[in-house]
Amino acid sequence: MGSDQGASDMTDHAPALRRSRIAGLGSHVPPWVVKNDDLKQWMDTSDEWIRERTGIVERRWVERDAGVGGSDLALSASKKALADAGLEAKDIQMVVYATLSPDVHFPGSGVFLQRKLGVPVGAAILDIRQQCTGFIYGLSIADQFIKTGMYDRVLVVGAEVHSTGLDLSTTGRDVSVLFGDGAGAAVLVPAEDERRCLLSTHLHADGANAEDLWAEFPASRHHPHVPVAMTGALEGRQFPRMKGKQVFKHAVTRLPEAIFEAMARNGATLADLKMLIPHQANLRINEFVAKMMGIPEDKVWNNIQRFGNTTAASIPIALDECRSAGHIGPGDLVCLAAFGAGFTWGSALLRL
Ligand code: COA
Repeated sequence: MGSDQGASDMTDHAPALRRSRIAGLGSHVPPWVVKNDDLKQWMDTSDEWIRERTGIVERRWVERDAGVGGSDLALSASKKALADAGLEAKDIQMVVYATLSPDVHFPGSGVFLQRKLGVPVGAAILDIRQQCTGFIYGLSIADQFIKTGMYDRVLVVGAEVHSTGLDLSTTGRDVSVLFGDGAGAAVLVPAEDERRCLLSTHLHADGANAEDLWAEFPASRHHPHVPVAMTGALEGRQFPRMKGKQVFKHAVTRLPEAIFEAMARNGATLADLKMLIPHQANLRINEFVAKMMGIPEDKVWNNIQRFGNTTAASIPIALDECRSAGHIGPGDLVCLAAFGAGFTWGSALLRL
């Protein structure tokens, strides 16, 4: 694949477009801390197995039967991002909402967030389904709308509630120990100059492995979409299922490709990079990628140990946390990279 394929930056022939920048960040995780040993009440697993294979120590889950959806977590994250940007919900012209765990089958979660947050009636609300790469796709979409001058203030959200849809029996343990709930949000506005802007985004997908990481129900190709009467006969096909080794193998190939693509596109080297913030799928994947690329440990931000894999929320949560902890600041070169179900993968290079 050519290095520029899928790049959303301007071409040599296009007129110079304005750029966007992240003006505000926010994140939110629910208060219930589920430690590895807590999982033993549902399944045959161990803290040692989970830590060794994934690096995860604990994750946050929403309270059971409390009716909390992803848009509720997104609401808290979005409020923080707006406050950080010095803006209010009424200023937002577009919301791009990334999730694989929508509040309901339809409509998309974005309109629920719009209503709860108070984003003006008539604003553009877009839901996207790019799983772990969702936030990077969302950033890219927001960037395009700002570049063309169509909008000046776009809210990009990644939010997930996985815990209510996991197979907590021993059969589902390879998947269910990985996932956590949470949300992260970013407010994008036009950039004043190139010292603080989104430099480029790079989006990719390959449907050949779509069934290697998926949840089959609800499904329009089945009648009804959720065969309630048949739940016992679904054999777990309503839960996420994964060919873990396949996912691992593709992730450690695609992530370096996407990172190098972003670097090459902008004439940057890894030495210029202040921080790589990869999607938090598995600590071993991120360690493998960093080692393979020769990126020192202190230039890679990992927090999967405390949150598990929060899919579309993982990058904005990590970005917000890394900045709040003072490890990155204005003007720093930061690379975001993700790989996930679809398969989809991508990267973004920005000066914070
Ligand atoms: N606790 C204890 N044992 C477990 C377990 C768990 N939670 N999950 C699986 N096992 C067992 C298996 O049953 C198997 O037992 P067996 O050898 O007796 O059959 C053994 O551990 C090995 O299972 P396997 O699935 O082959 O493990 P693995 O080495 O492939 O590791 C993953 C599993 C999920 C950690 C690994 O494949 C992975 O990280 N893949 C990428 C996942 C990912 O990133 N997904 C999200 C992408 S966005």
